[in-house]
Amino acid sequence: MTFPLHRLRRLRRTDVLREMVRETTLEPRHLVAPLFLKEGLTRPAELEAMPGQQQHTVSSLVETCGTLAELGVPAVMLFGVPARKDAEGSAAWDPDGIIQHALRALRAELGDRLALIGDLCLCEYTDHGHCGLIRGGAVDNDATLEAYARIAVSYAEAGADLVAPSGMMDGQVGAVRRALDASGHQDVAILAYAAKYASAFFEPFREAAESRPRFGNRRGYQLDPANADEALREVRLDIDEGADIVMVKPALPYLDVLARVKAAFGLPTAAYQVSGEYAMIRAAAARGWLQEDQAMMEILLAIRRAGADLILTYFARPAAERLRHG
Ligand code: PBG
Ligand code: ZN
Repeated sequence: MTFPLHRLRRLRRTDVLREMVRETTLEPRHLVAPLFLKEGLTRPAELEAMPGQQQHTVSSLVETCGTLAELGVPAVMLFGVPARKDAEGSAAWDPDGIIQHALRALRAELGDRLALIGDLCLCEYTDHGHCGLIRGGAVDNDATLEAYARIAVSYAEAGADLVAPSGMMDGQVGAVRRALDASGHQDVAILAYAAKYASAFFEPFREAAESRPRFGNRRGYQLDPANADEALREVRLDIDEGADIVMVKPALPYLDVLARVKAAFGLPTAAYQVSGEYAMIRAAAARGWLQEDQAMMEILLAIRRAGADLILTYFARPAAERLRHG
């Protein structure tokens, strides 16, 4: 049976009817705010390619996090820029490091009102800007795992609820899980950057995190944008190694991968709307080419519809404000 028996417009006639049959929800609890913080700053520094985002000081971070918690955003993901970098990225596991400071300050100020996630990588901390340790001119997977294990324990000791290994080394989730368990942190969860693509949309982030590789690129460890079956293998391995939440990154160009991951595994699944996705919308809106709020909400809803339980997004605050206050 078809038209005129069926008229799908009947349920699109009024706001209340549309609301009644809406399939996908977007709420502040679905949003996670990625935040940058830089050691040695005296005031927050605006980021040119990510308008509205800053490198924070610890105190501006604490203030922003208080606002996010009030809006109902459940978690923040922290990225640290250290004052000094070296070949081994040793500032990443310094108990006095910038992330460790921030974790302690946030816990003292906010208690358990906000889940604290530490992004766990080396690219912000190494002088060469790669996500792993360089041995013989290339990123050495297994040497890097030892460094990740130390960073994970250090974040856990400083109070992280979750750690998020993001370097795309093989075995990173297992190495982090074992190190956490062996140090008494069996309750610290792992958000795994499971399917992270070698993407052009990371560009603005590298200014924010001061993490642009000095030579080469990340294609030797991040996924080829052509591959989706391989992404599912990556996710499966991370689950087997103990991931609690799996993530697909970037979001919008990889909604097909996100949908497959959610359908295949049913784990809590996150998608990361990355810096370039944010910058595109802001840039077009600044020229009057897009209506910013509408574009923001439509894309966030689409990421939810594709299967994301959580969305890491630089729009977390404006989106939560809009959801709360209209
Ligand atoms: C690397 C890392 C990247 C992002 C977060 N951690 C990408 C990269 O530099 O390769 C990107 C996040 C974004 O673009 O918002 N560990
Ligand atoms: Zn990295």
